Amino acid sequence: MQVKMKLMVAILAIIVTVFGISMDLCHCKVVQFIFGDSLSDVGNNKYLTKSLANANLPWYGIDFGNGLPNGRFCNGRTVADIIGDQIGLPRPPAFLDPSLTEDVIMENGVNYASGGGGILNETGSYFIQRFCLYKQIELFQGTQELIQAKIGEEAAGKFFEEASYVVALGSNDFINNYLMPVTSDAWSYSDQGFITYLMETLQAQLTLLHSLGARQLMVFGLGPMGCIPLQRVLSSSGACQDKTNKLALSFNEATSKLVNQLSRNLPNATFQFGDAYDVVNDVITNPNKHGFNNSDSPCCSFGKIRPSLTCIPASKLCADRSKYVFWDEYHPSDSANELIANELIRKLGFLRNNDTNIVPSPAPDSAP
Ligand SMILES: *[C@@H]1O[C@H](CO)[C@@H](O)[C@H](O)[C@H]1NC(C)=O
Ligand SMILES: *[C@@H]1O[C@H](CO)[C@@H](O)[C@H](O)[C@H]1NC(C)=O
Ligand SMILES: *[C@@H]1O[C@H](CO)[C@@H](O)[C@H](O)[C@H]1NC(C)=O
Ligand SMILES: *[C@@H]1O[C@H](CO)[C@@H](O)[C@H](O)[C@H]1NC(C)=O
Repeated sequence: MQVKMKLMVAILAIIVTVFGISMDLCHCKVVQFIFGDSLSDVGNNKYLTKSLANANLPWYGIDFGNGLPNGRFCNGRTVADIIGDQIGLPRPPAFLDPSLTEDVIMENGVNYASGGGGILNETGSYFIQRFCLYKQIELFQGTQELIQAKIGEEAAGKFFEEASYVVALGSNDFINNYLMPVTSDAWSYSDQGFITYLMETLQAQLTLLHSLGARQLMVFGLGPMGCIPLQRVLSSSGACQDKTNKLALSFNEATSKLVNQLSRNLPNATFQFGDAYDVVNDVITNPNKHGFNNSDSPCCSFGKIRPSLTCIPASKLCADRSKYVFWDEYHPSDSANELIANELIRKLGFLRNNDTNIVPSPAPDSAP
């Protein structure tokens, strides 16, 4: 009897999902709005011509589409690209893409991610131009005004409440702020104090996004950023920086708590946290077990002159890009991103879907 009821509920749920019972207001698609840093940038910095965080040169993009640089800080796809593909959501274009129109936004969403950006306004100032998270949210408000003017306030409200949101920042707040000896944040805070400062800021930002209509939102945590090649060269042994990894773990723990608390307290919010720290750490320790051959140096490197922040046209590429965990000094390769994306999908409990609906499971794993 109970089983029958459950089956009927499940079938009903499938019917609702497949036939999209949304007759009123807006026959809008579910799209994504992405807020992030270079790990999610799909071309914004390409248009920030003074930015020093730029992936608009070979060999970036070599395993993506026509192989030309496209603004991604990777040889191939970002984690958000892969997750979106797997759950059946279109890839949102960069906010600064000149072809972005209201129609494009309603079909595909928008990606505001910017290389060098952080949770904090002051992070990454070294890069001269980048969008910090507050700036990205400000740009999103501009997008909302455009859509409201196009389809009316009520329909726009529904469109933005049905959309899926990704927030993935934090590594620059450490690597390009707190851990740099010259920044004022490095002088003003203890480890714990800095994480508290980040959490207060992130809480205000996520609450602001909720007030703007975000209901389905995922926050990605940090990987073992003490093991990126750029951190390894800081010690003569080339080992991972333990202190940096501990900061990533503390950040993940605090962010997980914050996101769960917001999800409980904000009306109608389904906010989820996921990180891939453990699996990436395992890949770095046992690359062969996961089909990799190198987990400590960048595939794209410029001889012994390290760290060069980016891959450059004069760099040499490794023989097999799919076997390297790191693409450049800072960013994972396409293959590593695939592994990270699969882990996040598993942790967040998303069902792979070939349809255009995003289907979060009712009881996602709580992240460790
Ligand atoms: C951060 O930047 C935004 C604009 O990008 C600005 O509105 C806000 O006041 C700034 N916040 C702080 C604390 O400086
Ligand atoms: C929450 O969802 C209910 C039912 O869809 C709706 O009536 C209510 O206005 C929503 N509240 C907020 C704050 O979005
Ligand atoms: C990668 O492959 C080469 C050649 O097969 C081998 O000599 C080397 O030990 C491998 N390195 C790792 C980390 O697996
Ligand atoms: C959905 O996609 C997956 C992998 O992309 C594929 O294996 C599966 O056959 C597809 N299912 C349907 C019903 O098309």
